[in-house]
Amino acid sequence: MIHFPKDFIWGTATSAYQIEGAAQTDGKGLSIWDDFSATAGKTKNGDTGKIACDHYHRFKEDIALMKAAGIKVYRFSISWPRILPTGIGAINPAGLQFYSDLIDELLRNDITPWVTLYHWDLPLALEEEFGGWLSPKIIYAFKNYANICFEYFGDRVKHWITINEAWVVATLGYGQGVFAPGKVSNDSLYLAGHHLLLAHAEAVESYRNKFQVKQQGKIGMSNNCDWREPKTDAQADKDAAQRSLEFFLAWFADPIYKGDYPEIMKQNLGDRLPKFTPEQQGKLKGSSDFFGLNHYTTMFAEASKGNSKEQEVYGNGGILEDQQVHLSVDNNWEKTAMGWAIVPWGCEKLLLWIKDRYDNPPIFITENGCAFDDVLQDGQVADTNRIAFFEGYLSCCKQAIAAGANLQGYFIWSFMDNFEWAEGYTKRFGIYHVDFETQKRTPKNSAKWYSMVISNNGF
Ligand code: GAL
Repeated sequence: MIHFPKDFIWGTATSAYQIEGAAQTDGKGLSIWDDFSATAGKTKNGDTGKIACDHYHRFKEDIALMKAAGIKVYRFSISWPRILPTGIGAINPAGLQFYSDLIDELLRNDITPWVTLYHWDLPLALEEEFGGWLSPKIIYAFKNYANICFEYFGDRVKHWITINEAWVVATLGYGQGVFAPGKVSNDSLYLAGHHLLLAHAEAVESYRNKFQVKQQGKIGMSNNCDWREPKTDAQADKDAAQRSLEFFLAWFADPIYKGDYPEIMKQNLGDRLPKFTPEQQGKLKGSSDFFGLNHYTTMFAEASKGNSKEQEVYGNGGILEDQQVHLSVDNNWEKTAMGWAIVPWGCEKLLLWIKDRYDNPPIFITENGCAFDDVLQDGQVADTNRIAFFEGYLSCCKQAIAAGANLQGYFIWSFMDNFEWAEGYTKRFGIYHVDFETQKRTPKNSAKWYSMVISNNGF
């Protein structure tokens, strides 16, 4: 039996656009994902989040399911355009009411809310008005929105995540253009990333100055990173793996823990990487009470020998050329339905890399999970491969803890099958199966397994 430390947090996670639906209900404004997914060719089967899991109307039923499964911590996100339909200006009272009711319902059921402020659904108005994350105007718009959330929900919400996966927002949204708002550029991603960091820093400063003492909550950012394993023992490949991690996770974590971008990024990017003023550095450094990590997979890294075709395939948003890294996977590694390799030891190595680089911060894995082609048969989903995935990753988490990593919690992505961005409804990450025609939820065997893990604090 693998036991976790006392008080270890066991949670599940979702995000607003992926589950809520009700895209234009009760005064909600459009987001860049409403717009992007409605554009031909952007998502599989032209799927959109218009209805999704209809969680907006079914949140009580969903919370009852969580309660029945023994889930005590739930991470969800607030849709900015539901609160502020045009991003700034007038508040939509129905939006405030919805999240207030959701939070109350969770608390009534002894479930602790962890709230993400930004999980990619930017108000479309801000994208149209000034280019979204490409304009410094976004920093104050975000701070204003964050303040509203702290003010209305901070009496009951004690765990805040400012931004989910800045790397994805910047790289896939403004670099490769495969996610909303679909912009393609080799430079803009660094500008978007810069503004994401500054927006985070302003929101945190504001929380700390105006709310934290009274509300007694914690605030941080969740960044995503895969592990990069050197392809060979050659020093050049070890250096390439390290460069790749710095261009991925340290891009966002170094400013937060050290006050500036990694040296290698400054060196390789020159003027393409924006600079922080000393004042901004002061606000950034120490701006997270915990290290939120979303982790899904591992790849080999080796020093690149030029712009090969593979680099495009394993594309890092045009930034592989900047890193001079070539990525690959081992054909023997098992893959999920996303094609992502299942490599639990990569998770352990990444946790220890974070421990060493950032002086052993408290870490929460705010997302880890997998998609498989689940089938509902006789009212059951026997997702043995998902259970094996979790057991593998959690065993390695436990080993990382034994080796000194300060890992304090783990959130399964996701509570239920949902709208998987550009993949639409074709990928199932949930521990609850959702029939998107009837909206019927069915616990998969992994949900039953997770109930046991939570009650035993291990497996
Ligand atoms: C993360 C993202 C989630 C979810 C997951 C699986 O990057 O935060 O919203 O979609 O990936 O792809």
